[in-house]
Amino acid sequence: MTTYLIKGARPLGGDAADILVKDGRIASIGDSLTVPSAEMVDAAGLIALPGLVDLHTHLREPGREDAETVETGSRAAALGGFTAVHAMANTDPVADTAGVVEQVWRLGEQAGLVDVVPVGAVTVGLKGERLAELGAMADSAARVRVFSDDGHCVADPALMRRALEYVKAFDGVVAQHAEEPRLTVGAQMHEGDRSARLGLTGWPAAAEEAIIARDVLLAGHVGARLHVCHVSTAGSVELLRWAKSRGVQVTAEVTPHHLLLTDACAEGYDPVFKVNPPLRTDEDVAALRAGLADGTIDAVATDHAPHAVEDKESEWAQARPGMLGLEQALSVVVETMVETGLLDWPGVADRMSVRPAAIGRLSGHGRPIAPGEPANLLLLDPSSRAVVDPAALASRSRNSPYAGRELPGRVVATFLRGVPTVLDGKAVR
Ligand code: DOR
Repeated sequence: MTTYLIKGARPLGGDAADILVKDGRIASIGDSLTVPSAEMVDAAGLIALPGLVDLHTHLREPGREDAETVETGSRAAALGGFTAVHAMANTDPVADTAGVVEQVWRLGEQAGLVDVVPVGAVTVGLKGERLAELGAMADSAARVRVFSDDGHCVADPALMRRALEYVKAFDGVVAQHAEEPRLTVGAQMHEGDRSARLGLTGWPAAAEEAIIARDVLLAGHVGARLHVCHVSTAGSVELLRWAKSRGVQVTAEVTPHHLLLTDACAEGYDPVFKVNPPLRTDEDVAALRAGLADGTIDAVATDHAPHAVEDKESEWAQARPGMLGLEQALSVVVETMVETGLLDWPGVADRMSVRPAAIGRLSGHGRPIAPGEPANLLLLDPSSRAVVDPAALASRSRNSPYAGRELPGRVVATFLRGVPTVLDGKAVR
């Protein structure tokens, strides 16, 4: 195994130091380290962060390998600075059995670019009728701890309660896609003046907030862990703040696109901006940023949702919801949270690595940059700016909402347990 000497990186944005990476771990950190046998990585001016952890990635395999595979999604993740991604369960077949989660886990091991951590479905076939084999998935080789019907809400309150009770036994967490389905029939975009003017059916904020309110009460009652996926409204942030103040074990994530973009993007009817939950208002974006800054929202999660051209480049109403996220997530956080002064680098490490790893119970990720720790690291050039070119992305799909937009920050290198997956800004494999 090659030994790497990373010269002059700034761990968590602090003072420059040399980081020696040996046998998969950080061997030492110090000034002017010299190790003749080591391969040098010039990191002058670069920030070193713990490898990012995504709680919410759609890898589309099995079933839609034309849109993404575990391997192409893993490469996109590594290029974005991730060392672990949770693969959502809405594949075909659905990841609702030990067999399917083990298949996804093995594909991740074979690709070897990030740790692919399968999410198990809460209900059989994501149908919201019967609980899936939660215990068997938890006991499988994939050791599932996060369960979600993402794409669909576990709408039945009694079923949601039972899921929370069940996962509590093995310290699992139910990650809820909060959307009251009776309030979003035919919904196309955020419900407000703009949806009325554009003639698109609205998705009211109350449809998300009603489920969050219900679920934090259930989680508090049962004493189980609840995670709220892709929080998108100011009211949701208020509800989470209230629930946390009452001691409910609730965590939440926000996507990069909900931190940056608003429903104004729908004006041109370009379906690249169609997503579920929808892009909201300026006031919601401000509340999401504030909630992430004060820790009410625990994590940034991409909701990376690759879609094939025929599913996305159509009329707005026919297009599938979802957008790419892995390769630009950190850049969007730099723009919306760091350059605005809302988060410092330790804060970025906390929201994009430490807390998501803790929520997913991943012991080897989200660790301090310190001797003896697993060498899951990224090196970021914060001063670099580039225009996003969808054709240059590693994802098999092209539905990036950031196409043509200039964003700050370039991931120069990513290390997974001491092995580089990205060097000089390029995927190693
Ligand atoms: O926009 C979305 N796309 N939201 C979801 O919840 C699911 C996802 C997908 O699977 O495409």
